[in-house]
Amino acid sequence: MKAFHAYKIRNAGFEDAGAIYALIKEHPREVVPRAISDIVQNIDRFLVCEAKGRRKVARRIIGTAAWQILPEIGKARNPSIEIKSVAVQNRYRRRGIGSALVKATIQRIKRFHPAQIVVLTFTTAFFRRFGFHEVPKETLMHKLYMGCINCTKYDSPFTCPEVAMTLVVKPRPAGAG
Ligand SMILES: CC(C)(COP(=O)(O)OP(=O)(O)OC[C@H]1O[C@@H](n2cnc3c(N)ncnc32)[C@H](O)[C@@H]1OP(=O)(O)O)[C@@H](O)C(=O)NCCC(=O)NCCS
Repeated sequence: MKAFHAYKIRNAGFEDAGAIYALIKEHPREVVPRAISDIVQNIDRFLVCEAKGRRKVARRIIGTAAWQILPEIGKARNPSIEIKSVAVQNRYRRRGIGSALVKATIQRIKRFHPAQIVVLTFTTAFFRRFGFHEVPKETLMHKLYMGCINCTKYDSPFTCPEVAMTLVVKPRPAGAG
């Protein structure tokens, strides 16, 4: 892996919405498309990777990742949280940026003590690096129905090759507020 150090991971702001939209749209096979209005409404749940330095880069936002609370899976105080919309610009891949984004997202999510972190993905090898393991899709039925509702590629979530994975995190300490 050729590391690329001239970048920073930061919380997204409204000014990043257009770049995030473009980045997600570039990966229609692997990432569920998101409307710009959806991105703007959930901008507080997005991280971006910004290219730094004086060198001129074609686009400043070179990666993104987001999360979404799934209150329907888990208990009210410990729902599941999904990592979604993970994408890195083609020319910056395999330099550690995707990993940096996912690690930062997991850090943000852990503050909420979720029952588990969930991902639906084609890139299982990538997510295994962070401790995710494959689970039967049946364990995420509600998420599948909501997430796949507009899909025209497969007749059922079970014929779709996307894999469900989860990362179990340390539970909230007993008696904690
Ligand atoms: C998956 C993705 C985010 C990875 O980003 P990245 O910046 O290239 O990831 P990293 O450089 O941190 O990769 C670290 C390691 O993960 C593994 N890895 C990365 N991308 C992989 C892929 N597509 N398939 C399998 N393993 C992968 C490799 O082991 C890699 O280490 P190596 O380069 O030393 O072999 C990027 O390929 C991407 O944007 N893909 C298209 C969108 C997508 O699939 N998103 C995930 C949807 S949930």
